[in-house]
Amino acid sequence: MTQVPWWRHAVCYQIYVRSFADSDGDGVGDLPGISARMPYLAELGVDAIWLTPFYPSPQADHGYDVADYRNVNPLFGTLGDFDALLEQAHGLGIKVIVDVVPNHSSSEHAWFQAALAAGHGSAERACYIFRDGLGTSGETPPNNWQSMFGGPAWTRVPDGQWYLHLFDTGQPDFDWSNPEVGDEFERILRFWLDRGVDGFRIDVAHAMVKAPGLPDVAALQPDDRHDEALHRTDRPYWDQPAVHDIYRRWHAILAEYPGDRMAIGEAWVETPEAMARYVRPDELQQCFNFHWLEAEWSAHEFREVLAATIAAVEPVGASPTWVLSNHDVRRTVTRYGDGAVGLARARAALLAMLALPGSAYLYQGEELGLPEVDVPLAARQDPQWLRGGGPNRDGARVPLPWSGEQPPFGFAPDCAATWLPQPPQWSALTVERQERDSSSTLLLVRAALRLRHDLLSSLGDGIEVLDRDPDVLAYARSGAGSPLMCVLNCGRVAVDVSDLGDPLLMSGPDAVRGGTLAPNTAAWLRA
Ligand code: GLC
Repeated sequence: MTQVPWWRHAVCYQIYVRSFADSDGDGVGDLPGISARMPYLAELGVDAIWLTPFYPSPQADHGYDVADYRNVNPLFGTLGDFDALLEQAHGLGIKVIVDVVPNHSSSEHAWFQAALAAGHGSAERACYIFRDGLGTSGETPPNNWQSMFGGPAWTRVPDGQWYLHLFDTGQPDFDWSNPEVGDEFERILRFWLDRGVDGFRIDVAHAMVKAPGLPDVAALQPDDRHDEALHRTDRPYWDQPAVHDIYRRWHAILAEYPGDRMAIGEAWVETPEAMARYVRPDELQQCFNFHWLEAEWSAHEFREVLAATIAAVEPVGASPTWVLSNHDVRRTVTRYGDGAVGLARARAALLAMLALPGSAYLYQGEELGLPEVDVPLAARQDPQWLRGGGPNRDGARVPLPWSGEQPPFGFAPDCAATWLPQPPQWSALTVERQERDSSSTLLLVRAALRLRHDLLSSLGDGIEVLDRDPDVLAYARSGAGSPLMCVLNCGRVAVDVSDLGDPLLMSGPDAVRGGTLAPNTAAWLRA
């Protein structure tokens, strides 16, 4: 009998390295900080962790601008610290996924520096996308593409050529039509696989191949929101068919290693069908299901995404993934209405996600019910916001509150200031506080992960969506024994759930009372 690969049902916890735990008091999280908190992750019950980029980098995009793909930024520790972290995680049964950023490097990467030095027409320049400009003296960018972070996607170098950067000027795009680039990434993947990592999260996984000739995009319409229009997938830099060839090659590399190594793509594509193309049997193991994250607080939307996701991944034999939060989007508590209602909904949505078939991704702080922070203007650091390209992402990246009554809340030993300021009100949300409060979000998530292990691991991928009240998402998961029911009430009035069984777990203390489920809550029930 073949064993089901671990990632098919895993709960993976995203660690935004700068903001998880700081061991040396510089106000920025680091690898030894993560190691010191590994028992917390084991107690939480996650199966895997994903570490955001910790490689040498000038931090123009907080690590998504990599200057050396095979080392650790001294800001975060050493390769020795990484090896120790990996060994410790494995000792606790936790898999480790690292971030790989193949669309672009940092402008401080040795290859880009060599490209600048070597000049026009050189082999070094051919690793990136350098072009001559338009106009009589090449003073106009080669096409009209805009950077995701605002402004043109092209920057001119002193000899007059332009280079493409879909993101910050410090993030030049590689030219993946040059075989050197693919060969180098094969060596990079092997470097980390040989060290023992269990998988990769692939940054902007749908961007590496650009349409031949780099055609202009249709001009923005007056009512287009800049950031939304740029992300539309009819753009000549997203989701080009040849990107899948890269993943076929990566699939074969991963398959050479024992232990079900995997890769998950960050591909913000428009439809579940487009997403499913990335998880065909000879490509990636997983792709983030951003349609779930993008759904409004609406049972109708959740039901639609659920059905469309399953319908799209089943034919290719992939298992679904679910995600509500990450370092690029506003935290769920705030997205769903903020305050007590936002928190109640975030907890309910989490329970509704954690009983679904497939694997789930949690973002650090989601287990504490952290809200988005309105980071003071002067403290903001997100290049997307600084360059005018979209909402400020710093609010989801504030260092975690662990303990104590004032900042840095145990995030760091004495430190003058954390890299983003923590709100003083977070004294009520620390891990220490929540561990002592039986109604806390932390204890709810721990209980949910424990039950998920005990009950759901014996269930297959099957799910039956129940036809109930339109404001309710209700589904059954069956396997051995009576089915597990999950009900989420997105409406304004309590709904009868008495026929579905007794509550095993509720998103709030009084979610189910007298056989009815309160608005903005969810419950797992069993007959
Ligand atoms: C991904 C990352 C985001 C980063 C961008 C550019 O979307 O999640 O944080 O800014 O890629 O690398």
